[in-house]
Amino acid sequence: MTQDSLRQYLSSTLKNDPALVFLIEDIAAACRDISYRVRNAAFAGELGSAGSVNIQGEAQKPLDLIANDIVEQSCGQNSKLAALVSEEIEEVTWLKTPEVGDYLLYFDPLDGSSNLDVDVSVGTIFSVMQVRDAQSKDVLKQGTEQICAGYALYGPSTIFVLSFGQDVNGFTCKSGTGTYYLTHPKMTVPATTSEYAINAARRDYWEAPVREYIDDCMLGVNGPRARFMNMRWIASMVAEVHRILVRGGVFLYPKDSNNAKAGGKLRLMYEANPMAFLIEAAGGKASTGHARILDIPPTEPHQRVPVILGSRDEVTLIEEYHQKNDAS
Ligand code: AHG
Ligand code: MN
Ligand code: MN
Repeated sequence: MTQDSLRQYLSSTLKNDPALVFLIEDIAAACRDISYRVRNAAFAGELGSAGSVNIQGEAQKPLDLIANDIVEQSCGQNSKLAALVSEEIEEVTWLKTPEVGDYLLYFDPLDGSSNLDVDVSVGTIFSVMQVRDAQSKDVLKQGTEQICAGYALYGPSTIFVLSFGQDVNGFTCKSGTGTYYLTHPKMTVPATTSEYAINAARRDYWEAPVREYIDDCMLGVNGPRARFMNMRWIASMVAEVHRILVRGGVFLYPKDSNNAKAGGKLRLMYEANPMAFLIEAAGGKASTGHARILDIPPTEPHQRVPVILGSRDEVTLIEEYHQKNDAS
């Protein structure tokens, strides 16, 4: 079977937008470089901590910063890229005076970086929006404005998953050649599932509807779900979303009493929005428990939000647990 390369796919899908083709190719090239650095980090003394903290107050790893620089360098020359919003950089990086139609790139250089030292999958998440008003240096656009989103997963293989809002397609990087080939065309999330992912160590912090939903899942065949519900937690959202795009499931990082002040754990602009965009494009659903993630009006670039995403019926069911709780 002949598979399209990412380059072939982009040039046939985006005939009228060469600048966007270049931008996505530059992101994909950056991801290939990051993948190489991740795989060889032990030889370069790049595991462990960097000794610094980011704007979120989280300890940075050398590879968080290296990955950030690789994306910046790879994409920074694009003449239509106006600004970068990175998890690792407090301020928005403006590359030029914005013009209507210019691109804005939001990214999490390395997602799941607490897993680096234990050699578990990590990834890079990105989202692309467009400047609509040249007068304002505004990066706070809601998720429905995304024109493209995706991620690279550095696991047993390096896979680049991408959507412009219709199909979700996965391209595996062929080792030895560095070329991405379309290996996972039209990824879809089944509407129903018997698998959920949550950091259950936080149970004491959960709000009532989340606790009730998880307790019901754990009751298995004897509970209201009347079936065995499988559990997974990788602690790399990018790997959890990839699993859901391949075989369904639901992922929760809810607001709880320990993260409520911040609004949740995951960041809206470069974690929740791009993943919600991909999950919706694949037929799934992404919610805070009360509202659609893509409809959240952003208030600041590093804003955190609750995230519940995956198989449509399961996310709807979790929203119903929230509604029942609100009504009582
Ligand atoms: P990051 O490494 O970019 O800070 O993101 C980590 C996120 C997400 O990928 C994952 O689902 C979650 O944090 C893990 O949180 P816990 O440590 O609470 O399991
Ligand atoms: Mn992350
Ligand atoms: Mn990160």
